[in-house]
Amino acid sequence: MEIIPISRVKSIIEFRLDQLLDTIASLLRSNIISIPIIVDKKSMTVISGHKLYAALKTLGVKRIPITWEESEEEIKITLDELGFYEDIKPSKTRVFKNTLELLYLNWPTPLVKLTSLSNNKFNVWAKLESYNPFSNSIKDRVGWYMIKDALSKGVKFDLLYEATSGNTGVALASISAILGVKVKLFVPQVIQKVTDTYLKIIGADVVRVSKSLTVEFLDEVETWAKRDKALNLNQFENNANFLVHLRYTAKGLDLQLKDNNIKPSIIIGGIGTSGHMSALSLYFKNRYRDKIQLVAVQPSEGEKRSHQRGDQYSQEGRNTNRFKLWSRYSSHKETRKS
Ligand SMILES: Cc1ncc(COP(=O)(O)O)c(C=O)c1O
Repeated sequence: MEIIPISRVKSIIEFRLDQLLDTIASLLRSNIISIPIIVDKKSMTVISGHKLYAALKTLGVKRIPITWEESEEEIKITLDELGFYEDIKPSKTRVFKNTLELLYLNWPTPLVKLTSLSNNKFNVWAKLESYNPFSNSIKDRVGWYMIKDALSKGVKFDLLYEATSGNTGVALASISAILGVKVKLFVPQVIQKVTDTYLKIIGADVVRVSKSLTVEFLDEVETWAKRDKALNLNQFENNANFLVHLRYTAKGLDLQLKDNNIKPSIIIGGIGTSGHMSALSLYFKNRYRDKIQLVAVQPSEGEKRSHQRGDQYSQEGRNTNRFKLWSRYSSHKETRKS
């Protein structure tokens, strides 16, 4: 058995994300790889262990255990030994070679103890996603990863479309401006007018759609994208808006908790597309072997809050389906509050 960089190995078999979730869940739970992946020496392609290879790649490990031929050898390699946490590599000196690095080389975002809410029974910690540089929200991660994912798959595009009520739009407009790509954002009528001005200053085209952000709204954007030969990223159905949280948001938080000996009992978060809570749910329920509770908070239908930019929460049909698919591994608790 040898441990070699995962980048040296290819696989001709591709899996859909839902086909990999069981393997990902069991890897997170056991933290151990017990069978090496069999690789052809000449072509460096996987002969056996395709699913394990794909799951390890999805989890972002840097190295994999391989063997060149079938063997009975029992191994016990931990994810940590394979560079599982190396995705989270903050710049020590805080010098960044371009503005995009300011996003992913600055992770993890701070975790701060809220002393006024803590007492001798429990401590409350807040994850400050507002430290992300573009939209000052968790949505920078999604904007970055959807574009990165499309580029890494070789998808050709020079125009991006996205339905958004704010933060994803700001993230995409900023990142597109850095990469020199045009972006058109479709914003529901209910959002305050200043959003348009802000998005336009960053360089996006903005189209107001006289609907709230519903499934029909998304279908229309998809139709317009096809007509205009644009790439519709669609955060509501794009797997990159789950994978970025699995690979970076969850892993970063896990590392912060581990390094500071914090034992979480509950993680609470709000859901829009459900991207981050479903990934956190899959990750923490398996990593912490069900000794943790995940609470996803969703506002009541039609509720509008002055501090929030949109009503993407009316996107219920779709995000609930996806939430169910991903969270079947995580026995989360969903809470509705009006
Ligand atoms: C600031 C902020 N936090 C959280 C969310 C919800 O996150 P998610 O789409 O991962 O459910 C959104 C938007 O939906 C948001 O703008």
